[in-house]
Amino acid sequence: MKEMFAGRDVIRILDFDREELEELFNETDEMLRYKKGKIDILKGKVMALAFFEPSTRTRLSFQTAMLRLGGSVIGFSEVRTTSIAKGETLADTIRMLDSYSDVIVIRHSVEGAARFAAEIAEVPVINAGDGTRHHPTQAMIDLYTIRRNFESIDGLTVGVLGDLKYGRAATSFIYGVSKYRLKKLFLISPPLLKARREVIERLKAQGVNYEETEDLEGIISELDVLYVTRIQKERFPDPTEYEKVKGSYRITASLLKDAKKELIILHPLPRVDEIANEVDRTRHAKYFEQASYGVPLRMALLKLILAGE
Ligand code: NCD
Repeated sequence: MKEMFAGRDVIRILDFDREELEELFNETDEMLRYKKGKIDILKGKVMALAFFEPSTRTRLSFQTAMLRLGGSVIGFSEVRTTSIAKGETLADTIRMLDSYSDVIVIRHSVEGAARFAAEIAEVPVINAGDGTRHHPTQAMIDLYTIRRNFESIDGLTVGVLGDLKYGRAATSFIYGVSKYRLKKLFLISPPLLKARREVIERLKAQGVNYEETEDLEGIISELDVLYVTRIQKERFPDPTEYEKVKGSYRITASLLKDAKKELIILHPLPRVDEIANEVDRTRHAKYFEQASYGVPLRMALLKLILAGE
């Protein structure tokens, strides 16, 4: 086994190159065989889940992945039931989990919380989403889904729609997909939710052919991939700002009438109202397939990080 992943922290998708992602995706292909089965390659290993923010898919798929690999899972998903509610610091909580487990998976509302945890913990730390910035394993799943639906990510035209300002899944996807030689990247959002400056600066520095637009209808026929995201209501510093953009975009079957036959629609989920249910029945809808890759991809990642140790 290569040493690329062994013992490694997973903090940002930016820290992984194409070769490493390819290795992960090949391993994920293997893990698909155990989607409903079990292999005991991580027997005796313990994964600690430290979820300071709500989650369904990410937490449960990490948990399922570890159980299918023969390992065990400890942790919390509600701060209310832990000593943090008594005033314990993040650093002390991480120190303790570090001594109990072989890998820590953390989700937190504060940017940089995962990096901070990784500096404290000796065991590898996996970022399951911190604040508005990074959600590396989601981006890995997103790229893997595209790879399963197209021969290559290179050469595709990709649109990212929605809350590009506060969305960590959107931001991580933009970073991830920009590792490939896209034909074009469209950043589609209402003006209030445009991608942050550091994201744009990075695209410029990388020479990505990108365009910011508000007009999804005008460019829908060009897209091979449309990545839709939810407006991150809980991250708005001012609720009146949220009211201004609420419901400002929605994918419907009629909007897709000019789309390419091959267009795939992705969404990290949960969706609120940004994709009409009728779209689920179209050939374009791939978001549930995407969610299903959460388990095999996280199995592959845990295996690569822990099995060599
Ligand atoms: C995302 C998140 O938590 O950032 N959810 C997920 O992990 N699939 C997206 C979101 O909450 O909108």
